[in-house]
Amino acid sequence: MIAKCSYLFTFTPPLLSARMTSMQIHILSLFPPMFEGPFDNSIIKRAIDNKLVTIHIHNIRDYTHDKHGTADDSPYGGGAGMVLKAGPVFEAVEAIKLELLEKGGVAEVPVVLLTPQGRVFSQQVALELAKLNHLILICGHYEGVDERVREYLATDEISIGDFVLSGGELAAMVVVDAMVRLLPGALGSEDSAADDSHSNGLLEYPQYTRPEVFREWAVPEILLSGNHAQVDRWRREQSILRTRQRRPELLDKADLTPEERAKLTSDQSP
Ligand code: ADE
Repeated sequence: MIAKCSYLFTFTPPLLSARMTSMQIHILSLFPPMFEGPFDNSIIKRAIDNKLVTIHIHNIRDYTHDKHGTADDSPYGGGAGMVLKAGPVFEAVEAIKLELLEKGGVAEVPVVLLTPQGRVFSQQVALELAKLNHLILICGHYEGVDERVREYLATDEISIGDFVLSGGELAAMVVVDAMVRLLPGALGSEDSAADDSHSNGLLEYPQYTRPEVFREWAVPEILLSGNHAQVDRWRREQSILRTRQRRPELLDKADLTPEERAKLTSDQSP
């Protein structure tokens, strides 16, 4: 057991076919209850139940030493707001690392600080993180985090976009969700992360389900044809078209064949 861990979803790491162990994520937060709903539903819950991932939520306040559990203080130099103290964050990370080392022989654990100043999260970053066996996420709060956490503790800083949230918790949920659905076996056998928007640098093609005609809007006929090769071709074209219409800047880096690139240049219709 990791000392003073308030919310712990513990599971024995199994042997997975595509990974050696289940992924272990440790999240440090001042508001552990925020994670209860999102991690108790849908794909993340199924991944936890299927032992693909273990998620441990640690309360930063448990690593404070005064009777009020003070985790923040006013900024040196003055100014509004409170700053998350370095001490409790360092102690929490050190306790987790020590346990991982002693019980699992794990010497290196990436420590990611969620902050609007970090590198911008993307499907590529999700893929990169999903390959890890262990990961520590620190959720900042209040006006900021003591700079020494950034400088001497975090190995990476991630932002989920150019806007400011009240804290890193929602950002951590976004990162965990995007990562966990990429773990082998996290999606049902019929689902595939490979078709997702952004997985190949393109937006996903349009999807339809029953009924065939809804309020006189019919499903494109090709999808009813049963011709899988044609359906695949149509979907690929739609994916490229949609990306060109909505996010043209993605096309530079997208995974396109030389023929697809040539067609894009010659065909300028909307
Ligand atoms: N904390 C506050 N805003 C954030 C953002 N945009 N990304 C990550 N963490 C944050």
